[in-house]
Amino acid sequence: MSVTHPIPQLDLQRQLLPIRDDINRALSQAIDNTAFIGGEALKRFEEHFAQFCQTQHVIGVGNGTDALHGIFWALDLAPGDEVIVPAMSFIATVEPLTQLGLVPVFADVNPVTYTLDPIGVEALVTQKTRALLPVHLYGQPADMAPLQAIAKANNLFIIEDAAQAHGATYYNQRVGSLGTAACFSFYPGKNLGAFGDGGAITTSDAELAERSRRYSDHGRLTKYEHAFPGVNSRLDALQALVLDIKLEHLERWNQCRTQWASLYSDLLADINEISLPKLGENRTHVYHQYVIRTSKRDDLMAYLKDRHIFTGLHYPIPLHLQPAYQDLGYKQGDFPQAEALGETCLSLPMFAELTEEEVRAVAEAIRSYFL
Ligand SMILES: Cc1ncc(COP(=O)(O)O)c(C=O)c1O
Repeated sequence: MSVTHPIPQLDLQRQLLPIRDDINRALSQAIDNTAFIGGEALKRFEEHFAQFCQTQHVIGVGNGTDALHGIFWALDLAPGDEVIVPAMSFIATVEPLTQLGLVPVFADVNPVTYTLDPIGVEALVTQKTRALLPVHLYGQPADMAPLQAIAKANNLFIIEDAAQAHGATYYNQRVGSLGTAACFSFYPGKNLGAFGDGGAITTSDAELAERSRRYSDHGRLTKYEHAFPGVNSRLDALQALVLDIKLEHLERWNQCRTQWASLYSDLLADINEISLPKLGENRTHVYHQYVIRTSKRDDLMAYLKDRHIFTGLHYPIPLHLQPAYQDLGYKQGDFPQAEALGETCLSLPMFAELTEEEVRAVAEAIRSYFL
């Protein structure tokens, strides 16, 4: 093995180096102009991200969690209304629901794609169901066509959680444009990441765009007039500048991730004791995470760490088993696929600037563990 340095799960330094001068210049100008909130930089990024996502509107907000919160607030649902969500995701998928008095109804994930399994969703629809909230987990779009059919038949909204999937496509259409609205996160480690927290709502529904924009800016009608009590959750101008520069590189970065994913898959294909990520039909994956599965997960993780190869877990505890949601009344055994995924998932090093040598070294270490 020719790599002697540690291999991190994510290295943001390497992403920064080639774009640092551009970013320094843009930030320095904005600082000189003291243009920190709103203004041209935010408008420009929102327009560019709307083009990228093939939607009419983008509303920059403080983070991805607030993006979901703003969408569900703008939908104006009643307390007790139900939203069907996958049992495997980050907790931010459901926090906004429960904070708004809505009820998350968990469904299991598909054993192949790990996204909301349409089989079983229909049986969960009740008189109170108002929306489906698929998560494009790890960067792979959920199976939207059957979900769209269920939504249409039952008059439900589809809200996408696209926090991990900037640029992924389903039937050549970008995530963010596949439902009524979508949330994106620009947390630094995401495929498109800010220099701090950031998020966006995408939608082609003009009324929803206006309501959610107002909500995130104190319910503002004009500078001094407020239509309703909102919140303060805006994407600041400095983050918008950083994101606008990074957006120009995103497609290339996603291509690099895809290339590393396919190299991992080639190099690990003959190890029977692990399962590799699989792509559903008619979609592209942007590999926010490259997640393998093995019953020896914890031991393998420690073995790799001993060899200075760092991995992650996304996520070891499914949502229905989180202490935060015990009051919802779910128990171990309710969602076997999500639970098995939690016990066996392992996220390998994944970022655009990995080198072929590093990917080969990670694969070689995994091979040496099993073979
Ligand atoms: C699936 C998912 N949903 C929502 C979020 C929330 O985004 P943020 O951390 O920007 O609030 C994240 C990011 O952490 C996420 O991974």
